[in-house]
Amino acid sequence: MPLSRHTWSFPTRIEYGPGALEDLVEIVRRNGGRSGLLVTDKGLERVGTPERVRSLFKKAGIALTTFDEVQSNPTDDNVYQGTEVYKKSGCDFIVALGGGSPIDAAKCIKCLVTHEGPLEKYDDMKGGDKFIVNPMPPLYAVPTTAGTGSEVGRSGVITIRSTRTKTIIFSPLLMPTIAVLDPDLTVSMPPKLTAATGVDALVHNLEAYIIDAFHPFADGIAWKGIALCIEQLPRAVKNGQDISARGNMLVASAMGATAFQKGLGINHSIAHALGVLFDTHHGLANAAVLLQVMKFNAADPKVDRKLASLGILFETQNQSGAVLDKLGEWLQALDMPVDLGALNIPRERLEEIEAYALKDPCCSLNPRPVAKGDIVSLLERIIP
Ligand SMILES: [Fe+2]
Repeated sequence: MPLSRHTWSFPTRIEYGPGALEDLVEIVRRNGGRSGLLVTDKGLERVGTPERVRSLFKKAGIALTTFDEVQSNPTDDNVYQGTEVYKKSGCDFIVALGGGSPIDAAKCIKCLVTHEGPLEKYDDMKGGDKFIVNPMPPLYAVPTTAGTGSEVGRSGVITIRSTRTKTIIFSPLLMPTIAVLDPDLTVSMPPKLTAATGVDALVHNLEAYIIDAFHPFADGIAWKGIALCIEQLPRAVKNGQDISARGNMLVASAMGATAFQKGLGINHSIAHALGVLFDTHHGLANAAVLLQVMKFNAADPKVDRKLASLGILFETQNQSGAVLDKLGEWLQALDMPVDLGALNIPRERLEEIEAYALKDPCCSLNPRPVAKGDIVSLLERIIP
């Protein structure tokens, strides 16, 4: 394996720490930004974070037009509207503020302000990445949740309304110019959302870690990302004002998305299916299926060894069963689901979930090959 060819890139500049948001204004000015588009959502407007950003830019004399129509599962319509506002307002940079949804939408807006639509032309599954070229405007990504790590990722996941399909728009050129990780912005997240988004970060690191690909850089990052999640997420859930735990979780989230350059597996395929078919929260869906998916994967000897190697992080034996027991206890302590009981998924739709998951791009990367019927039988074990 080490003799084969690979391309690895970790180029995102990250500004980390309390106060990083204040410094962003000066960075934008130095980069020549004069008029920006702030891409965010209505939920955050209610919390007041976008207003904080607007007043910082106003004080600095830099114009900022707000587009806050991004939905929780962003659609192509959101992207078209945002692109229109960008063009009408004569913008020359974008600030994305929020969870993965506004950041993903902002990446696609960045693309469409200099590229012809429709958005599905750039669908990664159809080789659309080759049409995405510079110039595109600078994008400054400011996460307010710690989970998706979209601020260091190269893709935007957008639902195309006409086909109801989650579509990945991918290009290394879509990666934000700068990611601003300011833990002050995540303290307003309530415990349940903190836990659900944090579990997503854990699953990114864990699925990336067990993917069978030669990528020692990503493996190292995933390892440390898992360690941070295990230790810091319970602290952030217990005390939302714990800036150190909040900061560590922002880092773990960015590490997860950096590590999953290696890929993700069927935990995400199933979570994507539950999101599209039942609107299940991504983090909750990931939590609910995690133990069973890892048991399925542990039947592969390589995965078994990798899971066993996490024993030291969970303060248990280096044995995959012991690690999964600890992982279950960790999820339950966070009040996360460990089966489908709480998610109201009807048993008669398991085949539909499997059909969607098998077509999901993450499925083919799963470390243990997945055949028809595997996902149904895996889900049958965790449905009441
Ligand atoms: Fe995820």
